[in-house]
This record gives sequence, C-alpha cells and structure tokens, in this order.
Amino acid sequence: MAETPFGATRRWAAPGSKSAELFGRAQGVMPGGNTRTTVYMAPYPPYAASGEGCFVTDVEGDRRLDCLNNYTSLIHGHAHPAIVEAAGRRLAQGSSFPLPTPEEIELATLVCDRLPSAEHVRFTNSGSEAVMMAVKGARAFTRRPRIAKFEGAYHGSYDYVEVSLGSTPENWGSLAAPASIEYSLGTPPSVLEDVVVLPFNRTEPTLARIEREAKSLAAVVVDPVPNRVGLIPARRDFLQALREVTAKHGIVLIFDEVISFRVGYHGAQGAFGVTPDVTTLGKIIGGGFPVGAVAGRADVMSVFDPTSGQPRAPHGGTFNANPVTMAAGIAAMRLLTKDAYARLDETGAKLRASLQACFEGAGVAGGVTGMGSLFRLHGTDREVVDYRSARATPDEAARLQRIVRRLLEHGVLMSITGLGCLSTPMGDAELESLVETFAAILAMEPSS
Ligand SMILES: Cc1ncc(COP(=O)(O)O)c(C=O)c1O
Repeated sequence: MAETPFGATRRWAAPGSKSAELFGRAQGVMPGGNTRTTVYMAPYPPYAASGEGCFVTDVEGDRRLDCLNNYTSLIHGHAHPAIVEAAGRRLAQGSSFPLPTPEEIELATLVCDRLPSAEHVRFTNSGSEAVMMAVKGARAFTRRPRIAKFEGAYHGSYDYVEVSLGSTPENWGSLAAPASIEYSLGTPPSVLEDVVVLPFNRTEPTLARIEREAKSLAAVVVDPVPNRVGLIPARRDFLQALREVTAKHGIVLIFDEVISFRVGYHGAQGAFGVTPDVTTLGKIIGGGFPVGAVAGRADVMSVFDPTSGQPRAPHGGTFNANPVTMAAGIAAMRLLTKDAYARLDETGAKLRASLQACFEGAGVAGGVTGMGSLFRLHGTDREVVDYRSARATPDEAARLQRIVRRLLEHGVLMSITGLGCLSTPMGDAELESLVETFAAILAMEPSS
C-alpha cells in the first residue's frame, strides 16, 4: 500500500509493544484487562499517552487523528487551553465539597438558556445516571411504573433502559410490537415487564403501542439521533407524533441528548423543533470531565426539590456538580458559539458526502449516516432506516471491522462500531487527509 497521509501507526500491535505489556499487566487486575467494555478491541487496544487538539498519541509514540473524541465528549479535542486553564484554576481551589458552589448555577443557567425544554437542571456524574434519574423522576411525577424505549437504542447502563439493546432476529419478535429482551444476563423478569419496546421511526405501530400501554407508562425515552440504532436521525413528524401522544396521556417525554446535544446550539430538539418534557445530557457539557444532567420543565423537575421536606424522588451523588467539571463545562460550552456549530455542521455534511463517495468510487458496499458533527460508517449499502435494517450481517460486520482496524493502523482513531465525530480543532487539511486515508483503505477491499 502506498504511503497514507498520516503514515503507519501499527507499533501497538507488535509483540512486545508497550501496549501489549500494559495489557498483560491489566489482565492480572481487571477482568479481560478491561474496565470499560466500549474501549476493548481484539486482541488488545493501543494505550493512550496524551492528546493535543484533534490528535491522540499512544504509548508507542504513534499519533492518530482522533475521530472519536472519547465517544463524542471532547467537542474541542484534547487539552484545549481555555478548558485546561478553567479546570486547573478551579482544581487548585479544591475539587469537591459537601456544599454547593457558584459554578453549578452558571452551567445550569447556560443549559437553560440553550435547551428549549430546560427550566431546571440537576447534575449527575454520567449520562447513565442522568437517564436513571430522569426515569425515576418521571415515575415519581406520574406515579406510574413502566417506561417505553426504542429497540436497539443505547441510554447507558441502567437496567430498564438496557432492555432490547442487543435484540437479534431470533428473539426480537414482531416489528409492530418488539419483544423486551434482556441485555445483561440475569435481568429480573419484572424489569422486562416494565419496559415496552417500540420500533424507531415507525409512527403507526409506535403510536398504537403507546395508546395500548398508556395507563401504566411514566415515560417514553427517545434519542433523536440514536447511535446504536444506526445513527439515523429521527423524522421530525415521528418526534412530533411522540410529543402529541405523550402529552395526551400525561406521559413524560424524555429526549436522551447525551450525544445529540452536540448537533446544534439548541440541541437536537432545537434542530427538530420538538420540545420534550425532560432531556438528559452528558459528554460535551463536562468539557472532558465526567458529567451528566437532567433538565426539564419545572413542574416535572420539582420531584427532586428538597425544600419542602422529603423530595418525591430523592437524588444524591457525592460528586454531583463538582466544581472542576462545572468549570471545564462552562469553558467548553462558551467556546461552542453559533458560528462554531455552523462550521461543525457544514464540515460534517461535507465529510459524510466524501466518505460516501469513497465507498461508491471503490465499489465497496458501505454507507454513511449521521447528523451535524456525527457520522457512522456501515458495512452495507442497503437503506438503513431503523435498528433492524441497520443491523449488520456477519459479512458486513467483518468488512466494517477490517476498515476500522486499518484506519487505526493508518493514523485514524474511530469506534470499532463505525461511530465517528468531529471536533472544533479539526481543519480542512486533517479532514482531507482523513478522506484520502479512507479511500486508500477501501482500495484494499475486494469490490462488492
Ligand atoms: C445516548 C446515550 N445515553 C446515555 C449514555 C450514557 O452516558 P455515560 O457513558 O456518560 O454513562 C450514552 C453513552 O454513550 C449515550 O450515547
């Protein structure tokens, strides 16, 4: 293969590499040498040493264009000077207290200013916790036990929202009424009974099922741009229909914008023009530090209010709203001006089109989905409209894995699932090199 723009970055894979040695040590103290399923890749991943702007350097000294940005969190890339300064200054003054700090009010104000559905905000330490608290809050508000979520959609590690995350053709049931399938083995049957599973972007069966189950439903949880469903944006009329049916039955409509808040200044809800009752956030709002938030209408959020005695939904958390995360988040969000979003949008659309053209030019079956600064590669040229159509066959999955692995060996870091995203420090030169690398890698594939 001819020289690719970023050069070869394969040293981690060599026997005796520093990454191999670290993985050996990790296996002695962590199951499978791993403490975060998402970052595992066979037989072992390169270990990161440092990051600067849109590049990350591994412990072997190989540098890659970071198209994953810690799973979409680092919208300004690594070690942005304004974020380093804000977090460092706050860290030097103490990192957490059993008292609130002024910073939490500032970040909450910023979220309320930008997010149409946000009147009040609660901070958590992760997106998973934010979703868990949003669901618990909805139950407390409605006094109903069950929730509805979409087949294949990821919302973090809470039992209820993991239901049907990994459904297969053998167990997923009918499209109109998908089966509730456990993801983590041993999930209590009661959890499965309390989760109604819906087909994404299919209005009629979704509405029919919600109508049938409405009396017991506290919440409908939907990610408007669900990554694991194939990063296919929701149709606006679909979200609008969800808005109407949930309002009619007093069900709390929760938008999970842990990832999709990065698609627009007012989040995905601003881009689609549909306002939920509650939104969950995470990732970009922490400026690279652990974070989550539940934001919503004041009456729903009042379930967390402790001022008149025991809240209807008590919510603690030792590190909630810790001031280092808050300071970093404020700095990161301030850098995200409307102009910054416009540039990310424009570059994202251009990149998706270029990658798609590479598939077509190489005669390799593949496709690209996404929105704003998000993109996802697929190992198929079939039209993907929902979880079932996006689910890769073994051949398609193998093709995608090969492509992502070769990208990793040629200076580009992406998710093994095909997810990628932009960061503000990425310039035209980096993106052109990315497309050139991608084309060179596809040329290694047999055409299909
Ligand atoms: C849509 C969505 N919701 C929730 C989560 C969970 O967030 P965290 O990993 O911070 O717990 C994620 C994480 O990727 C996500 O993509």
